[in-house]
Amino acid sequence: MKDDGLHGSERVPLVRPRVPASDELTSLLDSIWRSGRLTNDGPMLRRFEAALQKELGWDNVVATANGTMALQLACRALRLDGEVITSAFTFPATIQALRWNGLVPVLADVEPRWLTLDPASVAALITPRTCAIVAVHAFGHPADVTGLQTLASRHGLALVYDAAPAVGVRVDGVPVTAFGDASAVSFHATKVMHTVEGGAVCTPHDDAAEAVRRLRNFGLGEWGGAEEYGTNAKMNELQAAVGLSLLRTLDAEVAGRAQAAAVYRELLSNLPTIRFLWPSDAVSGNYAYAVARLRAGAAPLADKVHAVLGRHGIDSRRYFSHRYRGRGTLCPHPTPVADAAAEDVLCLPLWGDIPRRTLMRVAGLVAEAVS
Ligand SMILES: Cc1ncc(COP(=O)(O)O)c(C=O)c1O
Repeated sequence: MKDDGLHGSERVPLVRPRVPASDELTSLLDSIWRSGRLTNDGPMLRRFEAALQKELGWDNVVATANGTMALQLACRALRLDGEVITSAFTFPATIQALRWNGLVPVLADVEPRWLTLDPASVAALITPRTCAIVAVHAFGHPADVTGLQTLASRHGLALVYDAAPAVGVRVDGVPVTAFGDASAVSFHATKVMHTVEGGAVCTPHDDAAEAVRRLRNFGLGEWGGAEEYGTNAKMNELQAAVGLSLLRTLDAEVAGRAQAAAVYRELLSNLPTIRFLWPSDAVSGNYAYAVARLRAGAAPLADKVHAVLGRHGIDSRRYFSHRYRGRGTLCPHPTPVADAAAEDVLCLPLWGDIPRRTLMRVAGLVAEAVS
């Protein structure tokens, strides 16, 4: 965390992506130029995928053009067909990836502490048409991996995780991506570790990994013909170089964000109108977002605080709305916890070396707005 930096009048973004050290990136780029390969499963991509194995917890890691494609291809590779129970509180990409596969998202409620899929709500929605559960590690907070696996195993369902914001998160020391049948992560520039745009699928199933490799490259088989209905979801060599470089600084980025998030919590959590989502003791979090829930009794305050910060040139995000509800999705039961979260969640500016004075300024304005 820096003590100097942004000045009072400068716009404060929601996140400032970490960038690779230029000498390191130059050396990786030199190696790409020498190889003569810019994309199509090149040597830099292979190095990146190998480096990700330990971080993600499986030997099968297939990098993709972005996290949305990773989720789309994971579901396709597992041959899902029918209804998929998923979270009513998530980024639209979760729902869109399912719809692009012709799957029917069935929205279940989330649990109140970390806003991740509630196994009890899922259990009430399982029917003979259900083929899978797609749970989200919302804001990087792990879903109930044990409860969901128990349900999936009992009913013979595939269990897929939209782990888009969860790189670097561990549950009892195990990478959160090492659970279920597959996880899809995002390496978008806003994430704790990125490739500008990018993503990856990791899975314990060799055949699913092979299928994702094929599907990301137009479904082309060994002899160059399209064996199945794929797409172009390849990650190129330059993206892989950025990823390789930033993977080395992931721990530093997470440590910086943890420190910064703790400052917000220290400055604001004595206010009865604010509650921060915070990792449990079993979880080593990645502090991907500073997620505040803002509410005075029954009245949500997130819109008000968002507007006040905006007037002072400070970006914040009202994740997530329910705009996709009803568009090809089913929501058979009420989802009161997700509905409340959609009203009162506000993400505050956070990145690894966010200046302390910026944190103080944001916290001061938030405190003023809610009191
Ligand atoms: C929960 C969730 N799923 C999917 C995505 C999509 O990832 P990408 O932007 O890499 O396509 C995001 C992006 O932020 C996300 O938060």
